[in-house]
Amino acid sequence: MEHFVTMKEKSAAEILQLVKRANEISQKGVNPLKGQIFAANLFFEPSTRTKTSFVVAERKLGIEPLEFMADHSSVTKGESIYDTAKTFEAIGANLIVVRHQEENIANQLAESLSIPVINAGDGTGEHPTQCLLDLVTIYQEYQKFKGLKVVIAGDIKHSRVARSNAIALSTLGCEVYLTGKEEWHDDSLAFSYVSMDEAIEIADVMMLLRIQHERHQQRTSMQQEGYLEKYGLTVEREAKMKKHAIILHPAPVNRGVEIDTNLVECERSRIFKQMKNGVVARMAVMETLLTKGGNFNEEDFNKRQAFIG
Ligand code: NCD
Repeated sequence: MEHFVTMKEKSAAEILQLVKRANEISQKGVNPLKGQIFAANLFFEPSTRTKTSFVVAERKLGIEPLEFMADHSSVTKGESIYDTAKTFEAIGANLIVVRHQEENIANQLAESLSIPVINAGDGTGEHPTQCLLDLVTIYQEYQKFKGLKVVIAGDIKHSRVARSNAIALSTLGCEVYLTGKEEWHDDSLAFSYVSMDEAIEIADVMMLLRIQHERHQQRTSMQQEGYLEKYGLTVEREAKMKKHAIILHPAPVNRGVEIDTNLVECERSRIFKQMKNGVVARMAVMETLLTKGGNFNEEDFNKRQAFIG
């Protein structure tokens, strides 16, 4: 694994290795990597959880995060993201984490840089580390994936979280179902759509999504539209879920829209556990990228350092 930009073309074994490594880190901790390692966290879109958990994960691994604020960088002078990333590479970054509003940015950087690139969300494209932390959370619950029924609910069309998860969950043998407003259905994902009332009866995992207002042409008031009652997880629906079923949401949560505010911290909610798992999931990815397979290979790493200069 050289980069982590998509869940496509990743084998079940590869995904499972990362899930298990993240889980192991959460139980046993990890020895920091040796050497001076720098990470550039290039966030061009707002972020609370992802950016902070990358920084915490980096520090726990002994990686030094490099300061970058798009608004105070040469991006304001018209510098391209490619030149910004190349600059960080030249200065000595060993790893690039990138979030951007444009799809495929991370793939493009991965093709042109000689340091690992991690996609922290590219427009409506993918969000593979969010997917991995979701998988870790599911694994901690069920210790398996095969045969689990996972419903992804909400703004499927505009959600990078939905895309990465649908791909990886089906690779791992889960039964994936989608639900949501018809105008947000996405034909590029070949899974069955069910109604929310059907979904709550079948789901072992109910994965809710935030409505991606910033990616819509028009902003509509979801409260006025009665979104929660029609498509969201109400208290009445939650009561009908399977006894063991869990609720996930990548957050930020629109309380009272995707989910009743009283359910955000209910017994079956794993929303804050997901955030906690964001740190170990990102540690597992960075460790693997920097050490090729999770076993720190000093010789290889030194070669990489020498190449970067
Ligand atoms: C997600 C994202 O940015 O795609 N948030 C996150 O990383 N936890 C989900 C979202 O914003 O809806």
